Amino acid sequence: MNSPLPGSAPLKRRCVLVCQHRSCLRNGSEAVLVAFRQASAPGLFVNGSDCMGQCTAGPTVRVMPDGTWYCRIQPQDVPTIVEQHLQAGNPVEALMHPRFHPRQDAFSMQQEDEETT
Ligand code: FES
Repeated sequence: MNSPLPGSAPLKRRCVLVCQHRSCLRNGSEAVLVAFRQASAPGLFVNGSDCMGQCTAGPTVRVMPDGTWYCRIQPQDVPTIVEQHLQAGNPVEALMHPRFHPRQDAFSMQQEDEETT
């Protein structure tokens, strides 16, 4: 039974998908999958996935249902993602895929460039 204790926040279930297709495998995604599987967190389900269409930025990791994309993830990044995102609920902006999560500072720099040209 997964009912929350009285007065505690309900358990947020998350699924971490780690691409295990060709390009990501060549860049170490198998070790990333192992690292996520070794990091236990309540409500966390970890699975390998087929290609997620982001091959040039692999290893690709996707967190659902949050819809967060991470790119170029290495095993040493996994504890940070687990602690900051999966346990504390704060996605790790520095590791997020910029195609899906444009950074505010990059947007500001682009606006400045457009204003000066
Ligand atoms: S091979 Fe991993 S996203 Fe395509």
